[in-house]
Amino acid sequence: MLIQIDRPNSRHSLPCPEPSSEAPASYSVYIETFGCQMNEYDTEIVRTLLKHHGFRMVECSEEADAVLLNTCAIRENAHNRVYGHLAMYKPLKEQRGLVVGVLGCMAQNLKQELMTAQPIIDVLVGPDAYRRLPGLLIQALQTNQRGMAVDLSEYETYDQIMPERRDGVNAWVAVMRGCDNFCTFCVVPYTRGRERSRDPRSVLEEVHQLVEQGYRQVTLLGQNVNSYRFADWDFARLLAAVADVPGLVRVRFTSPHPKDFPPALLDVLAGHPTVCKQIHLPVQSGNDRILQLMGRSYTRASYMTLVEAIRRRGPIALSTDIICGFCSEGDEEYADTYRLVQDVEFQNAFIFKYSQRRHTIAARKYLDDVPESVKTERVARLLELQKAISLKKNRALIGSTVEVLVEGEAKKSHDQWMGHTESNTTVVWAKDDGSVSPGDLVTVAIDDASHSTLFGHLHRRNV
Ligand code: 5AD
Ligand code: SF4
Repeated sequence: MLIQIDRPNSRHSLPCPEPSSEAPASYSVYIETFGCQMNEYDTEIVRTLLKHHGFRMVECSEEADAVLLNTCAIRENAHNRVYGHLAMYKPLKEQRGLVVGVLGCMAQNLKQELMTAQPIIDVLVGPDAYRRLPGLLIQALQTNQRGMAVDLSEYETYDQIMPERRDGVNAWVAVMRGCDNFCTFCVVPYTRGRERSRDPRSVLEEVHQLVEQGYRQVTLLGQNVNSYRFADWDFARLLAAVADVPGLVRVRFTSPHPKDFPPALLDVLAGHPTVCKQIHLPVQSGNDRILQLMGRSYTRASYMTLVEAIRRRGPIALSTDIICGFCSEGDEEYADTYRLVQDVEFQNAFIFKYSQRRHTIAARKYLDDVPESVKTERVARLLELQKAISLKKNRALIGSTVEVLVEGEAKKSHDQWMGHTESNTTVVWAKDDGSVSPGDLVTVAIDDASHSTLFGHLHRRNV
């Protein structure tokens, strides 16, 4: 595996701490990951860094000398989950001096305050400072010293580190980090810092290696992939180059921002068979006043125009994110969002209650004045609507066949396979005579459907 952590003469490289001379090979680390795919990806980077420094990764906290929580800060319930897990580790800390580290967005967001409030934490490291983690962990393990690294960087992209992945079919590949959009509700620009794009050569080298290792699908990740810029490369060019890597079966990306969706990206989607015909296009609200308060830089009408332009290119599945109960959202304004969901008929929608976040523009300028019970009720009504739409779309596939990339055994049964369609709908079907393995492309005949899953039987093995 490639682990060239420092590239000489690269001004992007941060120094990596020297491995300890005291043989930390005996130290074992267990990592728990919360939150989004970018965090999953960061955990893979952290695993690589730690192994390079002689740490041993283990699968449960009982065996570990150190436990790391890679955290999310996007909503308050993400924080609460982490507090719950920290409390869980208290007995292990007291019994045998377990070292506890908090990584990621919550560490970056709360910094010293979190260290002070939670004496259980030995090490606190933000998303741009993972190269300092091995040194801080060794310090905590060997001398009981607490340590913190929460510097944000304008350059850090970890692009010389090949993350250690565990899923054998899909690999996440971050193409950029940070966000400069400052949507008023969102904490990400404060926890992940300024936007910076990875060198396309390093992205492509990583994708080539993934294919050599047997990966069949890559998902390109960025907080707003439309902002990707590196010399004269934009995201459409990068996506086309990745899609042309021989041996790759599917390419996905997440997420583009509706304010600057380039037509060239649709050309790449339409012109490259390996790029899945699926776009996650977060709308957040269907009301112009709320969109403006959110700082989203598009209107309901311009979003709908974009949806129409996408749909004119053929069957492309759309999914979205929606926030209910943003500051001052009235019933009529919520009704606009409800109607937008009815009009667009997304394949899938992630629907959230607004959660006020420290530092954000909304927290500084607006009142979080929609009662909790109203937020809950608005989310529930939208979820019900979306479930009915998803069910209708999925039931329309009964009697037809869909192409599925086999990912592994179904969660609920060892006797079934699970995979996704190009539109990213989950498909489950009975295992057959043993001719199918994860990574295969198969055709499944659909017999039944729920709002979230298609059920069927193997029609044919394709590749
Ligand atoms: N409250 C609720 N949802 C939020 N999101 C981002 N910030 C907040 C917040 N403060 C949602 C948005 C975004 C998704 C990743 O999380 O819908 O697209
Ligand atoms: Fe947050 Fe907006 Fe950036 Fe997405 S685009 S990460 S919602 S600030």
